[in-house]
Amino acid sequence: EFTWKLPDHPRLPKGRTVAVVVLDGWGEAEPDPYNCIHVADTPALDSLRKGAPDKWRLIKAHGTAVGLPTDDDMGNSEVGHNALGAGRIYAQGAKLVDLALASGKIYEGEGFKYIKECFENGTLHLIGLLSDGGVHSRLDQLQLLVKGAVEHGAKRIRVHILTDGRDVLDGSSVGFVETLENDLAKLREKGVDAHIASGGGRMYVTMDRYENDWNVVKRGWDAQVLGEAPYKFRSAVEAVKKLRAEPNANDQYLPPFVIVDENGKAVGPIVDGDAVVTFNFRADRMVMLAKALEYENFDKFDRVRFPKIHYAGMLQYDGELKLPSHYLVSPPEIERTSGEYLVQNGIRTFACSETVKFGHVTFFWNGNRSGYFNPELEEYVEIPSDTGIPFNVRPKMKAVEIAEKARDAILSRKFDQVRVNLPNGDMVGHTGDIQATIVGCKAADEAVKIILDAVEQVGGIYVVTADHGNAEDMVKRDKSGQPLIDKSGNIQILTSHTLRPVPIAIGGPGLAPGVRFRRDLAEAGLANVAATVINLHGFEAPSDYEPTLIEVVE
Ligand code: 3PG
Ligand code: CO
Repeated sequence: EFTWKLPDHPRLPKGRTVAVVVLDGWGEAEPDPYNCIHVADTPALDSLRKGAPDKWRLIKAHGTAVGLPTDDDMGNSEVGHNALGAGRIYAQGAKLVDLALASGKIYEGEGFKYIKECFENGTLHLIGLLSDGGVHSRLDQLQLLVKGAVEHGAKRIRVHILTDGRDVLDGSSVGFVETLENDLAKLREKGVDAHIASGGGRMYVTMDRYENDWNVVKRGWDAQVLGEAPYKFRSAVEAVKKLRAEPNANDQYLPPFVIVDENGKAVGPIVDGDAVVTFNFRADRMVMLAKALEYENFDKFDRVRFPKIHYAGMLQYDGELKLPSHYLVSPPEIERTSGEYLVQNGIRTFACSETVKFGHVTFFWNGNRSGYFNPELEEYVEIPSDTGIPFNVRPKMKAVEIAEKARDAILSRKFDQVRVNLPNGDMVGHTGDIQATIVGCKAADEAVKIILDAVEQVGGIYVVTADHGNAEDMVKRDKSGQPLIDKSGNIQILTSHTLRPVPIAIGGPGLAPGVRFRRDLAEAGLANVAATVINLHGFEAPSDYEPTLIEVVE
C-alpha cells in the first residue's frame, strides 16, 4: 500500500541542514581557452574537486540519461531539474512528441480533434521556436505536424516563427526559415494556403519565462494576433536576412516582424474561429503566451483583441494550473518527486533563485508543478532578475544575492533543505560572450563560497552540482576537437548547452563519517541525485528511484 512515509536510513542521521546548490550550465571539460570555468578564478569549486573520488565525481546530464530521445541531445534545464528533483528518468516532451507523431496517435487525441474543429472555416496558426535545437521544439516535428494537419483537412496555415541562435548556432535561423518556406511553397502548389505570418527573436519576442518581462510576450501578441509589428516584409527569408544585417543583430534578439501581402496587409493575424497550436514541447517559455491565449481574464498587458479561438499546446505546460486545457500530447507524468516526499516527511524546504531560473528549482524541480506542496513547511524566494539588458552586460547577475538569501535561510535554522540555482554559467554562456562568461563563472563560485561558509557554521551538509553543460565550452568544434572557423575566418561561438557531464560534490561538517560516493555507478546521472539528497536528510529513498550515489563505509 502506498505511503508517503519514508523509512529511516539505517546509518545516516536526521536533523542536518542540507544545502543543495545547482550551478546552471556548469559542465566538465578539459582545460582550454574556451572553457570559461577553467579560465575563471573558481577557488571554491577547485577545492571541492580535490575531494575526488569519494566526495567529488562526474554524472551524466544529457541524452537518454535525462529522458531525451538520443545521446546526441544536449542537456537542458527542464529535463535536468526534472531528473534532479524526481529521482527517476522520464521520457521527456521531445521524445513523447516524436512517438505521438510517429504512431499517428497525436491525430487521435482530444487536443487535435479540438483544433480540427476550426479547419473547415478557420486558419490553423502554429507558433513556436524554429530550430533543430531539441530543447524547446524541433523543426522536424513542426514539419510532420504541418503535413499531418493538411492530411487531416487544414486548408489555411500560418506559421509564427521565433528565431533561435541560443540552442543552435547564431545565424542558423536563415537556413531554418528557408526550409520552412520551401515546405510551405510546396503546400501552396497543392492548393493549401500556407505562409509564414510573423516572426521575431526568441529572447525579444514571446519566449520570456517566469513572468520576467511581459513586454516580450506583448511584442509577440501584437505581431501574431493583431498583425502589427515595427517591421513588415513580403517574405520571412527576406525579413531574417535584412534584420540580421543590422549592427549587433543576432537570431536571439531579432525584432518582431509581420509578413504582408502586396497591399501591405498582414497575411496572418489570429481571428475568431481560428485554431492555434503552440508547438514548443517545453513549458517554461510557453506558459506566459498560453495564459494570454487562454485566460478570459488577463491583465498582464492590453491584448486589444481577444479572439475566440481553439487553442492547444503541443503539451500541457503546467499540470497544476492545467494550462493549457487542450494539448496534443500528454506531458510526462512526473509524480512523487523528492520535494514532495521530503515535505511529506516534515522536511522544511527553502528554494531560491533569480527570476530567470526561479522556476527551475521550484516548478521543474517539482515535476512541472507550480506552487507549494505545504506552504507551512516551504518558502520559495524569487530575486527579481535585471530586465531589458543582455546578461553579458551584468554577468554577475544576482549570484551573490541568491547566496545571501540561502545563507540567511541556513543560519536561521528554520529549514532542513536550502536549495538554490546559480544561473551565471548558463545565462551568460548563452550570450556567447566569453569574457563576460568568465566573470559570471567567478561570481557563481563566490556565491558557492558564501553558501559553504554558512553550511560550515551550522554543522550542515552540502551537495553542489549542475544541471547541464554550457560555460565549459564556448566554441563549436570539429571531430578532432579543434574550434571551427566560419566563412569569414571567425571562430564559431557556441551559445548552446553541451553534451558534457557535470560535477557533483558532497561534504560539510554534518556529513556522517564514512559517507562516500559509491564506486559501482559509473553511468550515474542527474536522476541519481534525488535519492542521494533524501539519504542525507536521514531517510531511505523510495525503491523505484534511481540508486543513491553514496554509501557508508566502515
Ligand atoms: C533557454 O530557454 O534559455 C535555453 O533554450 C535553454 O536553457 P536552459 O535549459 O538552461 O533554461
Ligand atoms: Co541554458
